[in-house]
Amino acid sequence: MLTLALSKGRIYEETLPLLARAGIAPAEDPELSRKLIIGTSEPNLRIVIVRAADVPTYVQYGAAELGVTGKDVLMEHGTQGLAVPLDLAIGRCRLCVAVPAGFDYASVVRRGARLRVATKYVQAAREHFASKGVHVDLIKLYGSMELAPLAGLADAIVDLVSSGGTLRANRLVEVEEVAPITSRLIVNQAALKTRREELMPLIDRLEQAVAP
Ligand code: PRP
Repeated sequence: MLTLALSKGRIYEETLPLLARAGIAPAEDPELSRKLIIGTSEPNLRIVIVRAADVPTYVQYGAAELGVTGKDVLMEHGTQGLAVPLDLAIGRCRLCVAVPAGFDYASVVRRGARLRVATKYVQAAREHFASKGVHVDLIKLYGSMELAPLAGLADAIVDLVSSGGTLRANRLVEVEEVAPITSRLIVNQAALKTRREELMPLIDRLEQAVAP
């Protein structure tokens, strides 16, 4: 049996058509059944439903041989024990630096002043600002980053932007892109060696499904 770790919501919704093109159908809808382990049309493949940030952990420790996870989650978790064979070209968005409209980010950076930055993406933010030589104090948040500058907690945020609607609704503007984001197929590195005959055909089918 092979196990594929998926998270509910956007990743699940956008992975379903890919799985369908690869000839794989889940036996039920996790949103309706609330089951956490779901069979599929493949007798040797099941799906486990986990929190998005937990997908790499399940795959790293081999509790799932495969998973679908955002590049944003991977940047925070790291890729130890993981192979990342496919960019699935779904869940497309970008990780950005945003500030309140009217905040002169460029001039703050030029002066070398310290910026307070609130984010869930501490690793990615630290690397981004270090590479640009911008001095920052990072404040870890778990959600609603957009509120932080409005409430006076931070000067800037690093957050995911898709349509830009959330930033606009909160009078924030994007000033820098940290990284383009898509969802990736991750595979347990050890399993890729020891269970290669089972995994490779599945990975190949998914690759075909991404770029038919
Ligand atoms: C993400 C992100 C923004 C929003 C951006 O949150 O954190 O809040 O989407 O999308 P937009 O540019 O299309 O408005 P998400 O809904 O994924 O939930 P989260 O806050 O739990 O990450």
